[in-house]
Amino acid sequence: MPTNFDKVLNRRTSNSIKWNAFPKDVLPMWVADMDFAAPQPILDALQKTLDHGVLGYEFKTDVLRANVAARMKKLYDWNISAEDVIPVPGLVTGFNIAARITCPPGSGILIQPPVYFPFMKVQKNTGTVMQIAELKKVTHGNTLHHEIDWDVFENAVHSNDARTSMFLLCNPHNPTGTIYTDEELQRMLELCEQEDILICSDEIHSELLLDDAKHTPIASLSPEAGQRTITLVAASKTFNIAGLFVGFAIIENENLREKFKAELEKLTFHTNSLGHIASEVAFSGACDNWLDELRAYLTANRDFVVEYVAKNLPSVRVSQPEATFLAWLDFNELLEQGKVTMPLQDFFIENGKVAFNEGAAFGPGGEGFVRLNFGCPRETLIDGLERIKKAIG
Ligand SMILES: Cc1ncc(COP(=O)(O)O)c(C=O)c1O
Repeated sequence: MPTNFDKVLNRRTSNSIKWNAFPKDVLPMWVADMDFAAPQPILDALQKTLDHGVLGYEFKTDVLRANVAARMKKLYDWNISAEDVIPVPGLVTGFNIAARITCPPGSGILIQPPVYFPFMKVQKNTGTVMQIAELKKVTHGNTLHHEIDWDVFENAVHSNDARTSMFLLCNPHNPTGTIYTDEELQRMLELCEQEDILICSDEIHSELLLDDAKHTPIASLSPEAGQRTITLVAASKTFNIAGLFVGFAIIENENLREKFKAELEKLTFHTNSLGHIASEVAFSGACDNWLDELRAYLTANRDFVVEYVAKNLPSVRVSQPEATFLAWLDFNELLEQGKVTMPLQDFFIENGKVAFNEGAAFGPGGEGFVRLNFGCPRETLIDGLERIKKAIG
């Protein structure tokens, strides 16, 4: 039976951050988890464990890492072995560990803002220097997209008097929903090879593809790319199990892999047994029908947002994400007209009773934007969009 993504589930009865951070009359469209139940095969596997009743320490099964490797082969024809796969408690942990083992204090970490805000904390965490290659906003009527300005990118390498040691790539990109093309990835890779820069590629959104979008892991471009890249993947966003805190670092370079494992050990980081079970099922392919339905639903939600903005919010511009369940809305014109005020999160909570992520938190290029989460039933989405319309009058 097809999944009914239209069904509205009451999440206020749970301890959800998204649903409980603001007063009850505020509709939350911020934190990046979806308002859908996880797929049944995952729930069944978790239920089986709960029925057994004992939740003690567990080994990570060989099948878990083998399933991740097999999925990379199936999706991208990328040949990695189960040994290359290291479970991590989350992807933010993963890129912080990557930076700790590869970026000497005082060296640089290159990012492409506006970008997921923990990308801008890793430098402070590791005593490194932030190097900014801001993405270029390109508008077409009511829609916009972000692209790489290659001069900006090249100038950011070794900027701020620091040698770039790591390029922290977000692909697909949060918050813009852009998927980089193979040509763009190749050009980034060539620059990193030329300047001997390690790549850490956060690909957490890689299976949330809209329409017929395609994703390529940068590490899969060539054996050399594989040797200089730490790739981070997870089932958490795709199958809505983020609270189980398990992700994976894929590291083909043996020396790097051993350093990464040693650092995890040193910091005594462990992964969650229920997360192993859920990830093993997720990467096995048992939930792929659910995922196909989800992608179709999210694609229709994205189209709904774009059409709604075009018809009802003429001074607002919106991204047309190729992946993710995140829309990036540009209110700069209304800010100039004085019709909305900063911070935009406060403005919309006060005037529309709807909560978004503040764009400025995503760094340079995020000012005047909000990030809207459309991973929800259509009814909730319509409610959220109408609250925007009401707020701006
Ligand atoms: C690009 C990106 N990386 C990482 C995360 C969070 O990952 P985790 O919860 O595994 O640390 C998110 C969550 O929104 C994200 O968008």
